[in-house]
Amino acid sequence: MKATKNDKGIQIRRRIKAFIGRWVGLRQSWWRYVRNANCDYYKSQTDFLYILISNYHVIEKSLAMPDFEPGHALERVKVVVGDLIKYRELGFDLHHPQYIAAMQAIREYTCVHHNLGFSLPKDLLEEIDFLFKDVEIPEHVQPTVSKEQFFANVQSSFPEFARSRHSVRSYSDKEISEDTLKAVVNLARTTPTGCNRQPNRTYVVCDNSMIRKIVNLQGGGRGFAEKANKLLVVTSAIDAFSYNEYNEVWKAGGMYTMNLLYALHSYQIGACPLMWNGMRSQDKALREILNIPSKEEVVMIIAAGYPLDKFRYVTSVRNNVEDSLIIVR
Ligand SMILES: Cc1cc2nc3c(=O)[nH]c(=O)nc-3n(C[C@H](O)[C@H](O)[C@H](O)COP(=O)(O)O)c2cc1C
Repeated sequence: MKATKNDKGIQIRRRIKAFIGRWVGLRQSWWRYVRNANCDYYKSQTDFLYILISNYHVIEKSLAMPDFEPGHALERVKVVVGDLIKYRELGFDLHHPQYIAAMQAIREYTCVHHNLGFSLPKDLLEEIDFLFKDVEIPEHVQPTVSKEQFFANVQSSFPEFARSRHSVRSYSDKEISEDTLKAVVNLARTTPTGCNRQPNRTYVVCDNSMIRKIVNLQGGGRGFAEKANKLLVVTSAIDAFSYNEYNEVWKAGGMYTMNLLYALHSYQIGACPLMWNGMRSQDKALREILNIPSKEEVVMIIAAGYPLDKFRYVTSVRNNVEDSLIIVR
C-alpha cells in the first residue's frame, strides 16, 4: 500500500517521538547503571557475593567440563581463595549458601588435583588449610548422572520438572531432528508477550564450522559449546514495539528463552544459555553469519544437544529464598 503525504507526516512524528523517548530512557537507565553497577567488592556482603559467585562458578564449571584439564582455572582458584579470606576478615555470614558452595568448590578442586597427583602451589594449599581450619563444610561434589537419571522428572509435576533442569555442557553427536526442533519451538511459543505481539525468533545453527565461529565470538561457551549439536540464537523484533516500549525486546526475548530452555528439557535435550553482550564488532559479525536484520535484537544464544550417556552438571546453588522475596504489606 502506498503511503499518502499525511501517512508520511504521522510516520515522521512517530520517529521523532521514538528518538526522544529512547534518548530520555537511555539517559535514565544509563545513570542508574553507572551509579549501581558492581565495581566495589567490599561495599556490602551482597555485592561481595555477586563477585564471589561469578568467580567460583568458573571453578565448578571447570570441574564439570566434559574434557577436564588438570590445572585449568587455577588462576581463578587463587582469586576465590583470596576473596574467601577477605570475606571472613570482613565478618560476613559464614553460613550463607554461597560461601559454603565456594568453599566446597575449592575443596573439590584440591581433592581432584590431589587424586590426580597434580601439585598445586604450596602457598595456595596453606591458605586453603587456613580457610578450613575452624569451619565445618558439608561434603559436596558436582553431580555425575546418567541421562536417564537427569531426565527422570520430565513428565513429573511442574516443581519437580523445574528443579530437574540444569545447564548441560556435555553433548553427544546425536542429531536433533528438524521435527523435534519444530516441536520445541512450538512449545516455547506459548510464552506470553505484550499485547500478544510475538516478536521472538529462533535461528537454529546446524553447521559445525558456523557453530564454532559463533562460540568463538561469544566467548563464555568455549570448551564445550563447540560440541553442541545445534546453537539456538534467540532474537526479538524491535518493529513489534512502539517508541515508548524500548526495553520490551529484552523482556520478550528473556521470557521466551526460559520457555525454550524448559521446552528443550521436556524433549530430553541438554541445553546451556550463553551470555550475549553484543559488543559492536561481535554483533556485526553474528548478524553477517546468520543474516539477522537490523530490526531484530539478539537476546541470547543457547547451546543444545542430547547429553552423553553419563555426564556431570554444575550444582549452581541458589541463594536463600529470603534474599529474593520482598513482601510488601
Ligand atoms: C544470561 C545468561 C548467560 C549465561 N552465560 C553463560 C556462558 O557464557 N557460559 C556458560 O557456561 N554458562 C552460561 N550461563 C549458564 C549459567 O551459568 C547457569 O544458568 C547458572 O549457573 C544456573 O545454573 P543452571 O542453569 O544449571 O540452573 C548463562 C546463563 C544465563 C541466564
